[in-house]
Amino acid sequence: MPKSKSATKKGKRGTSKTPSRLVVVSNRVPDVKDGRVQAGGLAVALEEALQNEGGLWFGWSGKTATGTPGEPKETEVGPVTYVIMDLSRKDYNEYYNGFANRTLWPLFHYRLDLTSFKRTFFSRYQAVNELFAEKLAWRLRDNDRIWVHDYHLIPLGECLRRRGSKQTMGIFLHTPFPAMEVLTYMPAHRALMTALSAYDLIGFQTENDMRAFTDYIEHEAGGKVTKSGKVEVFGRKFRVGVFPIGINPSVFEGPMDPKDLAWGRKLREQHGEKAWMIGVDRLDYSKGIPERFQAFERMLERYPGFRNQVSMFQITPPSRGEVAEYKEIRHELETSAGHINGRFADIDWVPINYINKSYGRDKLTLFFRASRVGLVTPLRDGMNLVAKEFVAAQNPSDPGVLVLSRFAGAARELKSALIVNPYDIDEVAEAMARGLEMPLDERRNRREEMMKVIRSNDLDNWRDTYLTALAAAHQGD
Ligand code: F6P
Repeated sequence: MPKSKSATKKGKRGTSKTPSRLVVVSNRVPDVKDGRVQAGGLAVALEEALQNEGGLWFGWSGKTATGTPGEPKETEVGPVTYVIMDLSRKDYNEYYNGFANRTLWPLFHYRLDLTSFKRTFFSRYQAVNELFAEKLAWRLRDNDRIWVHDYHLIPLGECLRRRGSKQTMGIFLHTPFPAMEVLTYMPAHRALMTALSAYDLIGFQTENDMRAFTDYIEHEAGGKVTKSGKVEVFGRKFRVGVFPIGINPSVFEGPMDPKDLAWGRKLREQHGEKAWMIGVDRLDYSKGIPERFQAFERMLERYPGFRNQVSMFQITPPSRGEVAEYKEIRHELETSAGHINGRFADIDWVPINYINKSYGRDKLTLFFRASRVGLVTPLRDGMNLVAKEFVAAQNPSDPGVLVLSRFAGAARELKSALIVNPYDIDEVAEAMARGLEMPLDERRNRREEMMKVIRSNDLDNWRDTYLTALAAAHQGD
């Protein structure tokens, strides 16, 4: 039963004796159905910390309200309170579709050609962050630790500080962080960077991303950065660090639901002896899917022996479908898959199986395990967990090969993948062919090397390392 606002508004401040809670804030919040959390991936890791220590998860409900949205809805599951709020249609258009996904997303992914900036987008972005801060601030206790996620909520910390919040506050950016020359194209860059300085710790996926950030601090904002990651700028002191996000590999290695196993067997039988290559990506222009299709076409041109022998599965759930650039990429992919299939398909062979739907984790694991090559070739990506999932899901005694873009954060860790430049269509076509023909010993060695990294830097390790650094950052260490 949601608590009434007035009853809860008093007495939530907490004292030094009140146990410290973790407060997670993200644009998307896991679904809670029938008192249970429907979580996967990242949500599982955060859930565990929330369940152990007690806490609160605040964010958007994923819904738009007709008219002005009401108060946030609270649901309690054990020691965790989920607080979600609807957005007005205008907020959704200008904050989520607008500044988040038409300005920051393409900018952070180096797509200046797709970046549009409007003052109305930016002021709505700030207004929604202010609204979130208003709804969150009175729910906070003095000794809470606040962990904000991603580019949608950069100004939240600053909004909370203006309201007097003194709690430890950190943000983790799941996306890439753009080079100074790219960031400064966006007129509100200084406001954004000033807002980031309100946090005690800013976490990045890779050294590259952090370097891009500190480069701006030193060369554009006139601030100071020490080797150990202490930053002084805009009259604030805070810390920066690199925390590459991981997966929980055992869930991709372990036993599966027998129904899914039967489904996998049937699917394989239908496709006979043909080898599979697989790509799994949200439908997004940053993922390099058109270039991947072109590389597959090039491979079929250059190595005719693969015709009728290799099929590509591209699983691509649509996303952000109201944004024009996403409509365009959808159309482009349909045209390209149709063109390649029209050119090469035979009565018993479809080269590209282009699928616009999502599958559960077990079915994806089966797809990964049945594929000779995994294609993770984004033009730019913060980390890309599909790369790690593909490797973890492989049969250790007969593993497939990962073809990985050098522009995915994962390439910094998975050095035994076949690393490619996704803009070089010939290079990707060659890597596909090499993956399909790679000898067993080499496949095994490469997977083992990658599994060492995936196991040692798993999702729990990522969470614990960040939270330890956050505690230290607030103490000024
Ligand atoms: O990885 C970046 C990200 O924006 C996440 O924050 C988000 O959960 C995911 O992509 C899906 O995007 P969206 O929430 O726009 O559907």
